[in-house]
Amino acid sequence: VNAPDVIPIVILGGPGDGVVVAEAVLDMAAGGQPVRLAGFLNDALPVGARVHHAEVLGTLEDWPRLDPATRFIAALHKVKRMEERAQRIASLAIPDERYISVFHPSAVIARDVEVGAGSFFAAHVVVQPGSYVGRHVSVRAGANLGHDSRVEDFCYIGPNATLCGRTVMGAGAHLGPNSVVADGQRVGRYSVVGVCSAVTKTVPDRAVCLGVPARVFATLAPVPERKA
Ligand SMILES: CC(C)(COP(=O)(O)OP(=O)(O)OC[C@H]1O[C@@H](n2cnc3c(N)ncnc32)[C@H](O)[C@@H]1OP(=O)(O)O)[C@@H](O)C(=O)NCCC(=O)NCCS
Repeated sequence: VNAPDVIPIVILGGPGDGVVVAEAVLDMAAGGQPVRLAGFLNDALPVGARVHHAEVLGTLEDWPRLDPATRFIAALHKVKRMEERAQRIASLAIPDERYISVFHPSAVIARDVEVGAGSFFAAHVVVQPGSYVGRHVSVRAGANLGHDSRVEDFCYIGPNATLCGRTVMGAGAHLGPNSVVADGQRVGRYSVVGVCSAVTKTVPDRAVCLGVPARVFATLAPVPERKA
């Protein structure tokens, strides 16, 4: 019978980040969107383990075994380890069209915003016009992305963080909860901005910084490319 298709969504991850995404999927379904939380893929938990109203279906490598209608979203953010995690996600070779971006029903995304595959927008996020959000980005509850901001692949924007207008988050960069990037500033690739910090000057790649104003106090080592 031609029942409207309900998209099964499987989350790569589990307790922690994965549960936050799961809750948004449940809210979408409760609001009448044609999606359902189908389960998790997780390398640490056994098949059948219960995680937030769903079960672990296998390890990350098991994705090709699932129903071809399944769409995926990665919830594998890890502070200071994002370069490694980005490589791990890429190594799975899941085609972009099999990923789905999840928008909590209360997120407000301006109509001209471009969003890549597999990104997540939590409750009460606001994304202003002219912005770009890449693939596998996690924007957490209450964050505000100012007009013409650019958030590249694998970034994390923490709860209640603010990107002022025309800011750039390089690939894999992390903005801690309640932190702010001032107008036009750039946070470099894989850099980490700590909690409650104010970025008033450009942050180089792989820097760890915090404070008001944010000061760089450590640099992360580049992660060698994974062999295919
Ligand atoms: C930036 C960060 C990654 C650094 O981690 P770290 O290298 O383990 O260093 P610490 O957290 O121990 O912080 C170093 C020092 O700075 C202090 N510090 C931490 N955040 C600070 C802030 N916003 N302003 C001023 N000082 C701060 C710590 O108290 C510590 O002080 P101490 O050396 O006197 O003990 C971490 O502080 C952080 O903010 N992580 C982000 C958390 C996050 O975004 N979580 C996402 C889930 S919501």
